[in-house]
Amino acid sequence: MKKHDFKSKIVSNKKIAENFYRMELESKGILFSAGEFFQISVPTHILRRPFAPSYSDSEKFAYTYQIVGEGTEMLSKLAEGTELSVIAPLGNGFTMPEDNSTAILVGGGCGTPSLALLATQLSKKNVIIYSIIGSRSSCTVLEKARLEKYSKKVVVTTDDGSEGLKGNSVNGVESILKEAKCNSSTINIFSCGPAPMLKSLTQLANRENINTELSFEERMACGFGACMGCVIKINSKNTEEGFVYKRVCHDGPVFNSKEIYWQ
Ligand code: FES
Repeated sequence: MKKHDFKSKIVSNKKIAENFYRMELESKGILFSAGEFFQISVPTHILRRPFAPSYSDSEKFAYTYQIVGEGTEMLSKLAEGTELSVIAPLGNGFTMPEDNSTAILVGGGCGTPSLALLATQLSKKNVIIYSIIGSRSSCTVLEKARLEKYSKKVVVTTDDGSEGLKGNSVNGVESILKEAKCNSSTINIFSCGPAPMLKSLTQLANRENINTELSFEERMACGFGACMGCVIKINSKNTEEGFVYKRVCHDGPVFNSKEIYWQ
């Protein structure tokens, strides 16, 4: 889809969990496919910030952000009606699976909300959805209600065991695979979250021979392929090192797990 550069007013900006906020912005008719992202300008900051939407319709879109520094702290203080500059949609998005297949959505931390948009879009197809929400603790479990609405089952995993299974998202996938008992060729895993989680998920996907797409959350500077600040290593038989670099902002952010050269 053609990208658009437009001004958008904040519709709402609310705290939803410890250190996490959800902002709604006017979409001016721009619709996102799950996995695509956008960039917004943050007042007083030169570089735009990339985020993945968790909700999208022709009037507004929403995203969840975590306060991790000055820029996101500034975002959390912006009032309704403030106008931001947006470039969207960007990136490649997830591949829609075939009808009658099973989709396992695996979210970690701030990666989970973008999977809620994927669940919404998959629910319009004949796909059985299982979701795993990985979180540090019960107070930062994100998008549980929306994922429950669209999923046959939602498994919550927390590092401290304060809700659901004690462990990580990959433990959640193992429990779903035991229960779902379907042929691995009919399953697709879709994931967004921190790199160590994506790496563990790749090992599981290779072991179980499950097609898996990973959305990367690399830090981005330019956001349009010019600075090489967001590169990851991709397997290549054509180089001595065995890998080439690809840009998450330009070539991703979604990659098949088989492409990734993990160290
Ligand atoms: Fe500059 Fe990706 S952020 S190349």
